[in-house]
Amino acid sequence: MTRKLHLKTYGCQMNVYDSARMADVLAPLGYALTDDADEADLVILNTCHIREKAGEKVYSELGRLRPLKAARQAEGGDLLLAVAGCVAQAEGAEVVRRAPHVDIVVGPQSYHQLPELIARATRAASGPASGPGRGIVATDFPAEPKFDALPQPSEAQDVSVFLAVQEGCDKFCTFCVVPYTRGAEYSRPAADILAEARRLVALGAREITLLGQNVNAWHGDGPEGRSWGFGRLVRALADGVPGLARIRYTTSHPLDMDDDLIAAHGEVPALMPFLHLPVQSGSDDVLARMNRRHTARQYEAIVDRLRRARPDIALSSDFIVGFPGESDRDFAETLALIERVGFAQAFSFKYSPRPGTPAAGEPRQIGEPEKQARLAAVQDLLRRQQDEFNRRTVGRRVAVLFEKPGRHPGQLVGRTPWLQSVHAEGKVRLIGAEVEVEITGVRPNSLAGRVVTQPPGDGPAMAASAVGAAA
Ligand code: SAH
Ligand code: SF4
Ligand code: F3S
Repeated sequence: MTRKLHLKTYGCQMNVYDSARMADVLAPLGYALTDDADEADLVILNTCHIREKAGEKVYSELGRLRPLKAARQAEGGDLLLAVAGCVAQAEGAEVVRRAPHVDIVVGPQSYHQLPELIARATRAASGPASGPGRGIVATDFPAEPKFDALPQPSEAQDVSVFLAVQEGCDKFCTFCVVPYTRGAEYSRPAADILAEARRLVALGAREITLLGQNVNAWHGDGPEGRSWGFGRLVRALADGVPGLARIRYTTSHPLDMDDDLIAAHGEVPALMPFLHLPVQSGSDDVLARMNRRHTARQYEAIVDRLRRARPDIALSSDFIVGFPGESDRDFAETLALIERVGFAQAFSFKYSPRPGTPAAGEPRQIGEPEKQARLAAVQDLLRRQQDEFNRRTVGRRVAVLFEKPGRHPGQLVGRTPWLQSVHAEGKVRLIGAEVEVEITGVRPNSLAGRVVTQPPGDGPAMAASAVGAAA
């Protein structure tokens, strides 16, 4: 029987990866993906709890789905509603209390149980024909890591894909919910990661972004029994996965940027010269109270070493403004750090107190107008640095990995090594190929370019056929 699954994903790349794995788990049950919730038999909201707004979005979406479910039931049909991700983990049964039409609440460590949870919810549905959801809650942290129980990807892959190598976090920054929603740090075995990478490339991927909440804290047993750090894993992927053109990783913690990983940036050509390395604040006092366990100078020393290893490396970061007790002077130190480092892009957020985290209980909370003003100032500076960085690529010839057709006919979209998005005219067969492109101009959120060399041959570029099949 074919059934339709609508998956809506919020939050970070780990959720994007997890959503793809949920689709893989459900495909053997006959569930095919649909973009349209109206025609779905099962809707899964894969949620994020990082800031208050992210959490609240889920409830407004659930509100919109309620009449849809009621209409289905009135016609004698049904619509199963599942809430997955970090809101599911953090709030558990509270989700069902606030939204009684939810059938399943499933935490990030329990996705392999989805077939069983759906069967239970469906059985419960053959009781009273309508009424509230079944409210099954699965949020235990199982002894077995979910990765062992999830099926491997089997469909044609995009050119650029994610691969989770690590999950969970032991750092306990005082503002953050992730250690509670994703649990303790877990590293997947190197052999499993290499096997998944080979599979992804065989299915059409050319670029892999290694994922983890603290991806560079990854450590594991290498195939020859020696203990590996993350730098060793990157080298093994570069050497041991033919056809893999580009490697990226996110998100890293400064404390785990060890010598070998920094050296790898200078030695591994496939490792792209772009690093998202969150610093959060430029004030040592705020950093200490955030429990980041490094100073501003230590962060800058890591950046210096990265730039010595790979002079063209571009940096990205996350910033929180309005952390409890952040003074004007603390904030000025954040702006000064940004000026000194120079970022190619960055994300910035107003501090959002999260239930159960230490900082939420701090007495010196900052008022909304102050947070707003600081956010505007930090974003203004970061925007200027980003524009400046993008303008510097104009006129240069750079390698672009084309990922998909653009919105206009004949146009392709790809990325530079520094993660800038590029639009250029080109043949569809260039999708999946790294091509020399001259950057001709800067648009608001991308660069414009002109293809300089078409790779030889009339046949499809590597992986282009797989991409064509997926499109
Ligand atoms: N593991 C990553 C970050 C995960 S969350 C790391 O260590 O950097 C992504 C970003 O959200 C964080 O870097 C932080 O800038 C922001 N963030 C996390 N909790 C927040 C909160 N309570 N309020 C505002 N921003 C927050
Ligand atoms: Fe959250 Fe800090 Fe862990 Fe990042 S390192 S996930 S910010 S607790
Ligand atoms: Fe959000 Fe959970 Fe990712 S809280 S940022 S979805 S780890």
